[in-house]
Amino acid sequence: MAPMPMPSALTFELLGKCSVTKARAATLQLPHGPVPLPIFMPVATQASLKGLTPEQLEEQGCRLCLNNTYHLGLKPGQETLDAIGGAHKFQSWPHNLLTDSGGFQMVSLLKLAKVTEEGVRFLSPHDGSEMLLTPEHSISLQNSIGSDIIMQLDDVIATTSPDLARMKEAMDRSIRWLDRCIAAHKYPERQNLFCIIQGGLDLNLRRECTAEMVARDTPGIAIGGLSGGEAKDEYCKVVDTCTGLLPEGKPRYVMGVGYPEDLVVSVALGADMFDCVWPTRTARFGNAITATGILNLRNSAYASDFSPIEPGCNCTCCRPQSSGGLGITRAYIYHVTAKETAGAHLLTIHNVYYQLDLMRRVREAILADRYPEFLREFFRRLYAGDK
Ligand code: GUN
Ligand code: ZN
Repeated sequence: MAPMPMPSALTFELLGKCSVTKARAATLQLPHGPVPLPIFMPVATQASLKGLTPEQLEEQGCRLCLNNTYHLGLKPGQETLDAIGGAHKFQSWPHNLLTDSGGFQMVSLLKLAKVTEEGVRFLSPHDGSEMLLTPEHSISLQNSIGSDIIMQLDDVIATTSPDLARMKEAMDRSIRWLDRCIAAHKYPERQNLFCIIQGGLDLNLRRECTAEMVARDTPGIAIGGLSGGEAKDEYCKVVDTCTGLLPEGKPRYVMGVGYPEDLVVSVALGADMFDCVWPTRTARFGNAITATGILNLRNSAYASDFSPIEPGCNCTCCRPQSSGGLGITRAYIYHVTAKETAGAHLLTIHNVYYQLDLMRRVREAILADRYPEFLREFFRRLYAGDK
């Protein structure tokens, strides 16, 4: 038996739908303000986005970013979070926060993590002692963090795993863990718990899991277990199958997705929210995301290229000084990026802006019911350049 429906701390207002694809535009009202959907959420793992201050993140237009329960639970730890009154205050972030539940990070980061019915058992990276993250403990930590959206603890298996029995076990366990998370959640009136659909690449498992999760009536729904190197057509079938079974009036979050081409396709398949470390991580390798593809500004071809990272880009970094920006050139990034953090920092600003602005343009196109045209133009520029 599923428990009683929980209260919700969000409203979801559907503003427009594409008449050809399943794309939607909406406004998600969260405890720390409204968020336009579709949205890309940058990842600030340790309560700080690598290379950006909270003010700079805000300046790029970000109103919802991610933290990780696993990292914050270890450091600064629950006591400090309780003492300061949560992660918003801890990192001086006045806007919305979403926290992932921690299990996925442990399983993907720590080879020694072991999953049992109780929870995820792992060795502390600080002192090697054995620790156990249960659904109850993950929710308790997320209650202390005070994030606007909290995620259930789930059992995640690589989509590429051939073991269907283990996949089914992980799916069933994720459903049982959702019930434990719902029971443990202390503040449903101010924090929104999202379920996470599992089931690998098997569409029947996905259908079964979606039905079970939808019956629990959480304020929002995530599709997990993807972005693990599966083929694009299989990825698309899973997202399409799940969104086809989801209620229209709730936000849908595909976890771990961040390549621009995957974002625009997933929106066409009916997804609203995305997160990924890739835009910020790749900036630290000297890579700039642009409409015509990735530029590696460590390449000596840019040593005397005095154009902006992306001509016409309105980010703080690319915008000319005459318009209040920094007027940074490719040549400057080339110069500083190999040796100094300034280059990575500037590229992070540009990449985060690119992703947020892409989703703003996606939303406008949906509202004007010209999303198919938007997609054609997006892929034409990406693959044919500006020709
Ligand atoms: N991040 C990317 N994929 C997943 C997933 O399946 N579960 C969780 N908890 N986090 C994720
Ligand atoms: Zn830029």
